[in-house]
Amino acid sequence: MLRVSAFRLLGRRGASRVSLLEDFSFRYYSSGPLGVRDDTRDSRAYFTTPIFYVNAAPHIGHLYSALLADALCRHHRLRVPSDAATGFSTGTDEHGLKIQQAAAAAGLAPSELCDRVSAQFQQLFRKADISSTDFIRTTEARHRIAVQHFWGMLKSRGLLYKGLYEGWYCASDECFLPEAKVTRQPGPSGDLCPVSLESGHTVSWTKEENYIFRLSQFREPLQQWLRGDPQAITPEPFHHTVLQWLEEELPDLSVSRRSSHLHWGIPVPGDDSQTIYVWLDALVNYLTVIGYPDAEFKSWWPNTSHIIGKDILKFHAIYWPALLLGAGMSPPHRIYVHSHWTVCGQKMSKSLGNVVDPRTCLDRYTVDGFRYFLLRQGVPSWDCDYYDEKVVKLLDSELADALGGLLNRCTANKINPSGIYPAFCATCFPSEPGLVGPSGRAQAEDYALVSAVATLPKQVADHYDNFQIYKALEAVSSCVRQTNGFVQRHAPWKLNWESPVDAPWLGTVLHVALECLRVFGTLLQPVTPSLADRLLSRLGVSSTERSLGELHFLSRFYGHPSPFEGRRLGPETGVLFPRLDQSRSWLVKAHKT
Ligand code: MSP
Repeated sequence: MLRVSAFRLLGRRGASRVSLLEDFSFRYYSSGPLGVRDDTRDSRAYFTTPIFYVNAAPHIGHLYSALLADALCRHHRLRVPSDAATGFSTGTDEHGLKIQQAAAAAGLAPSELCDRVSAQFQQLFRKADISSTDFIRTTEARHRIAVQHFWGMLKSRGLLYKGLYEGWYCASDECFLPEAKVTRQPGPSGDLCPVSLESGHTVSWTKEENYIFRLSQFREPLQQWLRGDPQAITPEPFHHTVLQWLEEELPDLSVSRRSSHLHWGIPVPGDDSQTIYVWLDALVNYLTVIGYPDAEFKSWWPNTSHIIGKDILKFHAIYWPALLLGAGMSPPHRIYVHSHWTVCGQKMSKSLGNVVDPRTCLDRYTVDGFRYFLLRQGVPSWDCDYYDEKVVKLLDSELADALGGLLNRCTANKINPSGIYPAFCATCFPSEPGLVGPSGRAQAEDYALVSAVATLPKQVADHYDNFQIYKALEAVSSCVRQTNGFVQRHAPWKLNWESPVDAPWLGTVLHVALECLRVFGTLLQPVTPSLADRLLSRLGVSSTERSLGELHFLSRFYGHPSPFEGRRLGPETGVLFPRLDQSRSWLVKAHKT
């Protein structure tokens, strides 16, 4: 087998390969210092979730992948002008041996199984408020065209050859495994069966003549890409892992299967006896959605952020960029990687019967509640454990009590009978603590609050950039607590609107608290869209005033006019987030089982 680096190739091979790498370097290095692209300045940004296998119904891990992408994309939309185009794709991965076998086991035609389960994913995502702009199914005609074109590009660049492939194949993971990654475990009959060391899924020996992709030629370009852009794969430990993998040998990759063995897939162009490997098929979905092979796809690619789980890192961080380079394109801008959810300390699996149905959770905890829980508790760098009490505790304390309580305290008729955004009094709360005169009432902690909330949007944006949405929510939650402390400290319910001494300060306390709430509502939009909408509507914030560019926190404090001062609050619509009753029957049941 030929094993030369792409750079050596550059000098020796034909012109088409030279342009492949030139194209790569041009796009890559033109993206900014160290290749770090500022997506907020690019007019188009494209976010993707993995496409989901249709062998089984969706679970909370799948929803988590989609929510992370949704929150990133929604936050991006808050940052850029409203006319900037943002693409966001999700979908279902419908071909391959895994689906072919699952359909046979269920006594269904593969297409029936695909229609059924794909519809479940679509319904779930609609229900969960996933704001995708496209839902792709790999069984669609547009996708077959894209995959076959992509295949043609690799072929014409001399990157595919026919060879004998012999080795282990894991149908559950749809991947080839070297002997070192296979172990033996007792099977149902007690005999030792070969299984994947990583996933524990059964593997089988395969010996076939297939088309093979010259993956080995891409080791150096991949290393160069990753070394030049330290954030390409975020969080950093995953970036490091991929660089370590690239230290090892990178064998060529079999990219087709015999059609007699795998018929449920896209045929190799010009050779019906072979079906295209499902991962090549699946990865190209990211291009299909943006119109590939029509030229319009170039306005989206490579300003792309893939959101993926850690189990599919190798496919996205090695195979996919190599295939892209092979087809004359750049690697994606970002690959954001997350870890997994376990349930009560165990891996979720059908056989253990502990799969958590996200639809039930959305019903129980509300859409916003469950979105908040998964994104607040999910830490991309390590696995997280799910159990019901945790959800109840978090939502009761952060959404119902802290945030809902704060809104109620500042807008309730008893405390704010006029129902307006009260005026801010600059002599009560001067812009610098040293200027507090006889009518001033602000204390050092109040200045600390203003400064914390003023810097919150930037902090939150930085956390989004680092794929630490949980930290963004932690920061918001901490400011909510601080604001509650502020209200508690000044006890506006003890102040009197009728008193000329109290009234300006009472108005100021409410004004500051409402301004803080406006910031929280704006920043929570990507995670809890409906709740944030209710909160902002209650504050009287119009739809054109909800972007980060329009935020202008507490402008009166900084000596500027405030468009909110004196504005009528929105209509009262009841509790912002209802407390989850701990005694609910389903919760008791969950304890017992
Ligand atoms: N079809 C492939 C992806 C192809 S993308 C070109 C696939 N599908 S999957 O349905 O198995 O997984 C989809 C996503 O769900 C992956 O990002 C995976 O990591 C994620 N999760 C699956 N189980 C999970 C948990 N228990 N927890 C969190 N996410 C998990 O892989």
